[in-house]
Amino acid sequence: MAVERTLSIIKPDATRRNLTGKINAKFEEKGLRIVAQKRIQLSDAQAGAFYAEHKARPFYNDLVSFMTSGPVVVQVLEGENAIAANREIMGATNPANAAEGTIRKEFAESIEANSVHGSDGPEAAAREVAFFFAGTEIVG
Ligand code: PPS
Repeated sequence: MAVERTLSIIKPDATRRNLTGKINAKFEEKGLRIVAQKRIQLSDAQAGAFYAEHKARPFYNDLVSFMTSGPVVVQVLEGENAIAANREIMGATNPANAAEGTIRKEFAESIEANSVHGSDGPEAAAREVAFFFAGTEIVG
């Protein structure tokens, strides 16, 4: 198994409800290490660029508005198969379909306010980590 890094975002619905610590506990309990982390306010331009792949989708403008509606915590998670492991810990995009014990089952409010983002593959992980972090900010 390979040690990987993946980009995670704790979304505004979760920071608003003070869930950062509970969500981080889920990552750490499942063996993922938080090797970089910062709380930031995304600008419209940043959120729009981050979600550029969804630009043609009907929910794009709402998604950008939501992601700029309050602070987010961007973080790099490291561990064995971290990309897939994190997606399992998060649960399905739509909390109605998320498995018991997952972050989205426990905390998400809707398909939009779904508490966390995680990179969906190795290329996305590399791009998304570099979007928010300089190499020197990641300490494994
Ligand atoms: S999908 O719908 O399965 O293709 O979802 P995905 O491509 O993984 O991610 C879509 C991201 O957009 C957010 N979002 C929505 N998705 C689907 N439908 C609606 N209405 C919607 N509103 C917002 C969703 O939370 C995903 O965000 P990220 O940050 O990528 O998890």
